[in-house]
Amino acid sequence: MVFKDDFVMKDKIEEIRTEAEDELSEARNEGEVEKIRIQYLGKKGRLTSVLKNLKDLPKEERPLIGNLSNKLKKELETKISDAVQTFVQKQREDKFSKERVDVTLPGRCLPLGSKHPISQVTEKVVEIFSYLGFSLAEGPEVELDYYNFEALNIPKHHPARDMHDTFYISDEVLLRTHTSPVQIRVMEKQSPPVRIICMGKVYRRDSDVSHTPMFHQVEGLLVDEKISFGNLKGVLTVFIHKMFSPDTLVRFRPSFFPFTEPSAEVDIQCVMCGGEGCRVCGHTGWLEILGAGMVNPAVFRMVGYDTEKVTGFAFGMGIERIAMLKFGIDDIRLFFENDVRFLNQF
Ligand code: FA5
Ligand code: MG
Repeated sequence: MVFKDDFVMKDKIEEIRTEAEDELSEARNEGEVEKIRIQYLGKKGRLTSVLKNLKDLPKEERPLIGNLSNKLKKELETKISDAVQTFVQKQREDKFSKERVDVTLPGRCLPLGSKHPISQVTEKVVEIFSYLGFSLAEGPEVELDYYNFEALNIPKHHPARDMHDTFYISDEVLLRTHTSPVQIRVMEKQSPPVRIICMGKVYRRDSDVSHTPMFHQVEGLLVDEKISFGNLKGVLTVFIHKMFSPDTLVRFRPSFFPFTEPSAEVDIQCVMCGGEGCRVCGHTGWLEILGAGMVNPAVFRMVGYDTEKVTGFAFGMGIERIAMLKFGIDDIRLFFENDVRFLNQF
């Protein structure tokens, strides 16, 4: 037996299906799909009210209409969640394609610095003298006149002070003009044997292609029993051969320093011209790199060493001078201009 109301309700359910499907197919985003869900399946939705009103239908019609509307409800729920899924997926793909990362692209290199040539030479000097058994000592850059001059056998008004072009802070305080005051500070604290090097900044009122107001020196001091000039020559020759090359010719030339006796200046065969003579070596074939000598007994007496028992040698060299020779640089001021085009070459 078929009831009239049956047809009416069935038509109504079909109508809901068609309209819901049409609207879903036109939805453009998740928000619109949600509106459709509310419109049909929400608390006051069209399909929900059909289900709510089942109780008003004649008893006989309820099973069939209930069945149909429940089936449609499930179908719509599936379609709606499929539509939501599609939009979520699409959104994700859009995002990924915008944020795409090409992992095969080469990395971006950060510009890397390099060690300053002065630091490179300093490290090499320390390495060679450590190998020869010297340890590192330190002293202040702002120094007393006593350590910079007096204790080194350079009394006030001694003409040797003229060679130093000193920056004075007061009568008794100055910027050290060489690293030799560290010798005195070490010997005051330590009894023989002594075997130290000291490196650091020194200051002189001086400026041209081979002089700057601040430069670096390395001081060496060795004190023990039976130390001779032969030991000094041996140590410095090993140093020069390791710093430059094993076949570099070395020359010891008589010189004068108040704190050493006898004194020498050490030249190496010009690295620019190989000894033929050029502008850099003043056409002599030789270049001065350091001053040295046997420690003057007058200096030992200042620190209370027994001059009958110990002898020693000392030397002092300019790091910039060595770096110029090693890298073939003809203007010392380049080291301090911080021009990356220059610094990049090391
Ligand atoms: C001295 O300073 C002595 N104290 C060295 C010494 C130590 C001798 C121990 C004996 C025993 P001199 O003034 O020559 O010596 O300087 C040593 C080196 O420093 C020079 O050979 C040179 O390479 C460097 N030098 C001197 N003045 C300057 C400057 N204005 N700029 C750059 N380098 C300099
Ligand atoms: Mg000199």
